[in-house]
Amino acid sequence: MIKPYGSNELNPLFVYDSNSHDALAREAEKLPALVVSSAAAGNAVMLGSGYFNPLTGYMSLQDALQVSEKMHTARGLFWPVPIVNVTSDVSAIKKAKRIALRDPNLPGNPVLAVQDVESIEQATDAQMSAMAEKIFRTTDPAHPGVKTFLSVGRYFVSGPIKVLNFSYFQQDFPDTFRTAVEIRNEIKERGWNTVVAFQTRNPMHRAHEELCKMAQKAAKADGVLIHMLLGRLKEGDIPAPVRDAAIRKMVEVYFPPNTVMVTGYGFDMLYAGPREAVLHAIFRQNTGCTHFIVGRDHAGVGDYYGAFDAQKIFDEEVPKGALQIEIFKADNTAFSRKLGRVVMMRDAPDHKPEDFVTLSGTKVRTMLAAGQPLPEEFARPEVAAILMKYYQSLEK
Ligand code: ADX
Repeated sequence: MIKPYGSNELNPLFVYDSNSHDALAREAEKLPALVVSSAAAGNAVMLGSGYFNPLTGYMSLQDALQVSEKMHTARGLFWPVPIVNVTSDVSAIKKAKRIALRDPNLPGNPVLAVQDVESIEQATDAQMSAMAEKIFRTTDPAHPGVKTFLSVGRYFVSGPIKVLNFSYFQQDFPDTFRTAVEIRNEIKERGWNTVVAFQTRNPMHRAHEELCKMAQKAAKADGVLIHMLLGRLKEGDIPAPVRDAAIRKMVEVYFPPNTVMVTGYGFDMLYAGPREAVLHAIFRQNTGCTHFIVGRDHAGVGDYYGAFDAQKIFDEEVPKGALQIEIFKADNTAFSRKLGRVVMMRDAPDHKPEDFVTLSGTKVRTMLAAGQPLPEEFARPEVAAILMKYYQSLEK
């Protein structure tokens, strides 16, 4: 199987040994504590799951600056986005060597992880904004990722962590949340060698379905890993349980049996376009996937990124050989009225825009909220029915 990113073996930071787990949980109750940001909690869940292999904890301010500036840590590890624990109030943990990280997303803020504090550093406004500019290609506070990044504080609390649980993800999504360790094991059990990963934060329509099938065919893959984001999204995006149900239905009806794993990971969406695409590729390599689909406006939002910037970054900014996972670059994909099937636009050069069935997200939402079925060329009826039920529940 393909090796994890940056090491021969996956090194998840979750404490699997039950004696050590109990001892750490007991110790944590007495440690100085920090209720972390949702972003930092997501980082802990990803580190615990093995997705962020080979990182061992939260980056220092220097690492965060260098990762933002040139996608390398001070020690020279290629990494696209700072993985940090940033907070606005360090009064409770000043001088502490070891702290409990408490979960902001669960009632009572239970302990999520224990951190050895290496440093607590305060970033300047100029440094925060320089990092945002590099990560998100904008400092516009209207960008949802920038807004979150600039709102959590200025104190960078760095150091290694040990993770005690997977926050709300395991309880809320027992059938879907999977760690990188679990995915690797399942791929092995299924006897798959070549696996295409598909990132998504949306329900899957015909274009998404076809992208998975085209990539599987092109890579001659044994299977597809549909890997959905289960963490926080911006307002207006569809909640994970609804997406999960819609995706499962689509897989059940429209994919051959035993060719798809429907899974998810516990992380908040960054909307960092190209940089997030690279992070996505790294953590899919850690799951053991050999190929990763990057299509149009991957991890994008609004008009902040060019439609194919998230593909270009792999050619222009990722050092050759840094990643083992291969990128399947997909062109804009839609149903062709002329050909009667879903195609990539680059494969239909004679087509005019009106030869394709395309619908904007806004149009999809208004139609569903009004109880109008989506065209079958755009969405599978079973999928559209699940989404319609959701949008109509919002109207009430
Ligand atoms: S994302 O934020 O998770 O990237 P989304 O779930 O919409 O958003 O997209 C999942 C993947 O499908 C991304 O790689 C995206 O680029 C690709 N994609 C979505 N729609 C299309 C399309 N019509 N044509 C080509 N690629 C697409």
